[in-house]
Amino acid sequence: MSRAPARWISLSIALAACHGSSPQAQAPRDAVLSGAVTGAGAGAAVSDCSTWPQWVKVNAARYRSAGHGGRWVDVYVEAEHVDAYVTGGVAPVGMRIIKAGYADEAGTTFQALTVMGKMAPGYDPDGGDWYYGVLDRDGRTAKLQGKLEMCRDCHDTADVDFRFGLPE
Ligand code: HEC
Repeated sequence: MSRAPARWISLSIALAACHGSSPQAQAPRDAVLSGAVTGAGAGAAVSDCSTWPQWVKVNAARYRSAGHGGRWVDVYVEAEHVDAYVTGGVAPVGMRIIKAGYADEAGTTFQALTVMGKMAPGYDPDGGDWYYGVLDRDGRTAKLQGKLEMCRDCHDTADVDFRFGLPE
């Protein structure tokens, strides 16, 4: 966790670099394992997440994320995966988790969606087969996506399956 600030500074730079242009062209190579940034649309790995506002919000009140640069966040999971999310353990293939980040507690200033998607075995065996993405609010336009090392390295410190879950 001590290296977290550096990672988030890198991410901010990456997002700034991506602004208004193709993520394919702009994404920093060192941020992405295997070059899995495919441009607009998160479809390469995790299908369209544009319905995320209708997913189940699993946190009670919006909270300040310890890991994600002090953003205020809400966490969303599709209805069929709520039980698995709450129970914890190794996630079922297909589970997608969206974390919506805001600058303020009231949620007036949206910042980014981060998403984790549990892929089929073999996608990234050393990384729990998780896809990571940073999406625009539309849930489809990926700023960064794939086997994102910066996400994985920190999530690797979680106790189970690269997931931290909700705060106590
Ligand atoms: C420095 C550590 C760190 C980094 C880097 C990081 N995360 Fe997280 N992430 C956390 C922590 C801690 C939580 C759980 C609670 C919180 O928000 O503080 C979390 C929670 C999440 C969740 C909710 C699911 C869960 O319960 O674990 C998603 C989705 C997520 N992160 C996606 C990402 C993506 C995508 C990236 C890379 C762009 C990323 N994270 C980078 C620390 C990190």
